[in-house]
Amino acid sequence: MTEIGKSIDKAIEYLLNDEVIGIPTETVYGLAGNALKPEVVVKIFEIKNRPYFNPLIVHTYSFEKSWDYVETWDARLIKLAEAFSPGPITFLLPKKKIIADLVTAGSSKVAIRIPNQALTLEILRNLPFPLAAPSANPFGYVSPTTAEHVWNNLKGKIPYILDGGPCTIGLESTIVGVENELLVVYRLGGITLEDMEKIVGKINKVHLSSSKPQAPGMLLQHYAPQKNIWVTNDLKKFLTLHSDDNLGVIFYGEILGSFKYFLNLSYNQSLTEAAQNFFDALRAIENWNVDYVVIQWFEERGLGRALNDKLKRAAVKIVNY
Ligand code: TXA
Ligand code: MG
Repeated sequence: MTEIGKSIDKAIEYLLNDEVIGIPTETVYGLAGNALKPEVVVKIFEIKNRPYFNPLIVHTYSFEKSWDYVETWDARLIKLAEAFSPGPITFLLPKKKIIADLVTAGSSKVAIRIPNQALTLEILRNLPFPLAAPSANPFGYVSPTTAEHVWNNLKGKIPYILDGGPCTIGLESTIVGVENELLVVYRLGGITLEDMEKIVGKINKVHLSSSKPQAPGMLLQHYAPQKNIWVTNDLKKFLTLHSDDNLGVIFYGEILGSFKYFLNLSYNQSLTEAAQNFFDALRAIENWNVDYVVIQWFEERGLGRALNDKLKRAAVKIVNY
């Protein structure tokens, strides 16, 4: 019922026929459909089991084309778009009427992103409409970074998954916007704070986690894997104090001891590589026969910031010494 394939033509045909399909992007796989047709957008919410108060990102193929959907671009956001689009960054901008309230959950702003993935850009260029696409995971579950991840979660619910290989970034896009003239970062992702500050100077407002979200998508328990995840600031010390068979370990760099259940996000401590492997790791540990899994905080810079934000949301316990 659900086919995984590499045909751009098939993907385009399904989308033209008002179907919702899985598409690759450089960040995570998306669950895509015609952003201009409310009955298709409704299907996306239903398949994902996503609450209607949580709005969708609208994907298009160029900055010029985005003007069909937005009223204005703040000058600083234009600079960021020039520097990083197509790429893992999403802009919150005043929407035009053509974008339905359903897409933005009633907000006057729409999230616009130009993904940097060859197959998906080709699809977007050939469609007469933009694509609404949340990450292609059921609501509250880990984002998919391979076509197989999407298949595991949504088989039988969508006709097609376009396979673009593993996502090269592996974390969702960074979301930025402007509030009261101030630049605000709503989600840390593929473009780092440092990257952006090189272009627009110091960004003072980073408005991320909240158990009482102001903007949707800021729910604290957004990423909730089935396994109990413990996070520590000193894995070496933690492992000398806890050595039982009920423990699995996610390393980043050096392997500290021998464990039945462990994996390594990056042997040479590359944040880029750790980001690529992170969501796959959160899926892998679900098959481990352990009660809990421990991981150390990443360094609080670059992609490490985004990874730590994910850990904060996934953790059931924090053990800082
Ligand atoms: O990398 C990505 O951004 C991926 C790929 C598929 O493009 N998409 C993605 O979508 O992560 P999703 O729906 O899983 O996360 C989008 C986030 C949500 O937290 C949502 O609340 C927020 O963006 N968002 C979307 N539109 C918004 C709007 N109009 N106002 C405020 N937040 C918005
Ligand atoms: Mg998501």
